[in-house]
Amino acid sequence: MIIYGNVFYKGRIVECGIEIENGVIVDVGKDKRGKNVDGIIMPAGIDVHVHFRDFKESYKETIESGSLSALYGGVCLVVDQPNTNPPIVDEEIYFRRMEIAEKSTYVDYSLNLGLVEDNVDKIDEILRKIEEKHYVPAIGEVFLKDRMSVSYETLEKAKKTVNKLITVHAEDPNEEDDVKAEVKAVERCLSIGKFHFCHISTAKALDMIYHSESTSEVTPHHLLYSKEVVKLRVNPPLKSNDVRVALVRNFHKADILASDHAPHTLEEKWEGAPGFPGVETIYPMFFYMVKRGYIRINDLVEKFVVNPAKIFGFDRYGEIEVGKYANFAVFDPHSEKPIKARDLHSKAGWTIYEGLMAIFPKEVYMRGEKVLEDGEILIDKGFGKVL
Ligand code: NCD
Ligand code: ZN
Repeated sequence: MIIYGNVFYKGRIVECGIEIENGVIVDVGKDKRGKNVDGIIMPAGIDVHVHFRDFKESYKETIESGSLSALYGGVCLVVDQPNTNPPIVDEEIYFRRMEIAEKSTYVDYSLNLGLVEDNVDKIDEILRKIEEKHYVPAIGEVFLKDRMSVSYETLEKAKKTVNKLITVHAEDPNEEDDVKAEVKAVERCLSIGKFHFCHISTAKALDMIYHSESTSEVTPHHLLYSKEVVKLRVNPPLKSNDVRVALVRNFHKADILASDHAPHTLEEKWEGAPGFPGVETIYPMFFYMVKRGYIRINDLVEKFVVNPAKIFGFDRYGEIEVGKYANFAVFDPHSEKPIKARDLHSKAGWTIYEGLMAIFPKEVYMRGEKVLEDGEILIDKGFGKVL
């Protein structure tokens, strides 16, 4: 099969054909003619930080609803986080969650293993058991504060025993000031070793990570909103406007853009539950920003496709290139529209991006198969691959 159109290929948009066999790209070339696709054929997004809940929190999101939301947003692979209820802290619960995923995920799915004080001595063994059946992308997001938290000493111990990417939610538990809490935790973690830092919200911490072996992730909400404007809770908290502006100016230093999709019901939100849904809006909002010239298309692809695949070791995913899965999100640059919560598919039912402009994908392809067209899903749940 050949898909022909305007393709984001090797850093530029070129008119060419993509030849696909068994879901994998086997050739790309100007002389290849095939099925014509209108719009810009972009590589599908990879969101390495989502909370799809399930279990006792199925009322706020499930792998089914969360992955459907992802698909509508042009995201074909997600990394789910282990702070579920009950949490993913041993192989038994890991396998249970993967069984749910196999039946219900629309997009490709992978799951981080949780690290807590209680399992650090067995973490090696747990990982080994899981790896016999599944690919474990990372240990994370490891909390230093609140529920499921570990001490720096435990983090150090884990770092010594496992040779795995460990993703850290870096907020020092003993620091009141929100900027200092992040900077201090990052500083301390960097002295322990190499980590992947989730949702970095200050330029200072981003810069420290940039000059180290470690990698970083930023979210749309920390880039777009300050605490003066949005007074809702999220971890790490939104910062003052000058801290936010500095983060935007240093965006180029971030390795990954991820949503930290953290859905709650409206009632819970009013009661102060931390987090915002965002897996469906992240790629559409940033593609719109590309159109407006706020960010470069290459930076978006690097941070939302290439680096996520590279850092988490998803070899078959990434850019549109020979050897990779034919996973595409097709955007029509003329179809911009305001984001409305009622159009979205998360169970949360609300968004902090209401009214912001976005370009949603008109078509999505997974392994060469058209899975979404003009707002309609063409596959059943369970289509996604569990990694
Ligand atoms: C996360 C969630 O809801 O799971 N919320 C968030 O604000 N990022 C967990 C957390 O980080 O506290
Ligand atoms: Zn999170």
